[in-house]
Amino acid sequence: MGELLKGKNILIMGVRNKWSIAWGIAMAAKSQGANLIFTYLGDREKEALLKLTCDMGNITAYPCDVSKEEDIDLVFNEIRQKFGVLHGLVHAIAYARAEDLQDTFVNTSKDGFLLAMDISVYSFIAVTKRARELMTEGGSILSLTYRGSIKVSPGYNVMGVAKAALESSIRYAAYELGIRNIRVNGISAGPVKTMSAKGVKNFSDILGIVEAKAPLKRNVTLEDLGGAAVYLLSSLSSGMTGEILYIDSGYNIMGI
Ligand SMILES: NC(=O)c1ccc[n+]([C@@H]2O[C@H](COP(=O)([O-])OP(=O)(O)OC[C@H]3O[C@@H](n4cnc5c(N)ncnc54)[C@H](O)[C@@H]3O)[C@@H](O)[C@H]2O)c1
Repeated sequence: MGELLKGKNILIMGVRNKWSIAWGIAMAAKSQGANLIFTYLGDREKEALLKLTCDMGNITAYPCDVSKEEDIDLVFNEIRQKFGVLHGLVHAIAYARAEDLQDTFVNTSKDGFLLAMDISVYSFIAVTKRARELMTEGGSILSLTYRGSIKVSPGYNVMGVAKAALESSIRYAAYELGIRNIRVNGISAGPVKTMSAKGVKNFSDILGIVEAKAPLKRNVTLEDLGGAAVYLLSSLSSGMTGEILYIDSGYNIMGI
């Protein structure tokens, strides 16, 4: 057990189950002394979260569908009342309709486009706006992205466009919140077998390609991502904001 996040109140959004990237980050943050606060989507996720956290003692968790402004308001009002101050926020949420990830990109429907942008991008702006008010001692905000934002990853489609908008949002938020000593960064994760990833066509092929071509000759683990998140959430990264940190076994440096 380390102390890099001792006494820090950190909100984790996006734990669906034990394979979730947010869960990897939660475990790493907990091991560094963080006080964790969670949100969940629906009863199934609540049940999974309670099971996962059963040996963490009493945890604080709030329901939150990020497409509903009133849900987001409720979460941040509750945090304000119970904790007063927030030090960290992990936004690990994305969604696109299955058909928009299975069909060709140019067939993306307007509804599907707007939905993906709402859940995967606007939600980041919405929670950042609320977190800003509670980060009175400075803070660190973190979201999860993928290199399909800058390079074509067939099948990633509308989610690639959403991740490009998310990365740009990270930079704009970092610019505006720097004056309050609130840092905003992204982790660009290599492929990880999660429920969300299952929606991407040929996902297991992508895992195989990365394992074969990446300098580290393996895919990343939840521990790899958790360690990077602790770095970004803690004062170890105090001089860093507006960055996208690649945790992908080095795959992004390859030209072929
Ligand atoms: N798995 C990968 O290969 C990979 C790679 C790079 C980036 N990412 C990103 O990591 C993040 C976490 O995804 P994951 O792979 O751990 O998958 P996951 O399915 O475990 O987690 C996704 C979470 O998003 C939540 N979510 C979706 N719609 C929501 C809504 N309306 N309101 C509230 N929550 C909602 C889900 O409930 C779930 O908890 C996502 O942003 C994803 O794009 C994943």
